[in-house]
Amino acid sequence: MKRHLIQCEPSLIAADWGRFAEEAELCVAAGSEILHLDVMDGHFVPNLTMGPDMVAAVKLAVPQAILDVHLMIYNPDRYIENFVKAGADEITFHLEATEEVEHTIQYIRTCNRSPGIAIRPETSEEILLPYLPLVDKVLVMTVEPGFGGQAFLPKMLTKVERLHKLARQHKLSFAIQVDGGITYETGKKCVEKGATRLVMGSDYFRQKDRRKAVAHYNELRNVAV
Ligand code: DX5
Ligand code: ZN
Repeated sequence: MKRHLIQCEPSLIAADWGRFAEEAELCVAAGSEILHLDVMDGHFVPNLTMGPDMVAAVKLAVPQAILDVHLMIYNPDRYIENFVKAGADEITFHLEATEEVEHTIQYIRTCNRSPGIAIRPETSEEILLPYLPLVDKVLVMTVEPGFGGQAFLPKMLTKVERLHKLARQHKLSFAIQVDGGITYETGKKCVEKGATRLVMGSDYFRQKDRRKAVAHYNELRNVAV
């Protein structure tokens, strides 16, 4: 089974919000090809961040970047079109946030975007079984969604490992993404269990030399699973 290329993507939630577009440009200049944008509605998670207009501003600033939009909002299907129009390339929504899981996946597909499904730490990966053949990516939250800067939950490594096993067993090609408390060290542990998409907020934005940091993160591409 083909292994996805390890991608380390900065989560702009941890950027300087007073210079958001410039921060996006600096990420791309440092070698980051995918930018992670956390959308929060203040209901599904106790925090509010950005909407489609901010995604559009990032797309304008760095049209060459892939925008990976993580929807931590209830009833995501109501907003898919807005985020597609804003320039989202990948749209990930939470299983726990909608009754219309399959419809939402299909809708993202009909908009020619890449669908992903996310689960909170307390949600078992078993519930994802019917949807795994339909999505390009499964996002395993490695912190409770809502805020950057939290500590990585090591218990989530078992979930990553089980999803990796399911992908091999059923010959499915979804990528496993981890988000929350990811550093080079915790990211390495996740890669060793089968994750290939690493979302980094605080650890990425605290780096003085981002180009050097991106090169260091990319060394994870040599980690054997
Ligand atoms: C939580 C957010 C964060 C963010 C990454 O809802 O999704 O996980 O992307 O933040 P850090 O890397 O600071 O945990
Ligand atoms: Zn996220």
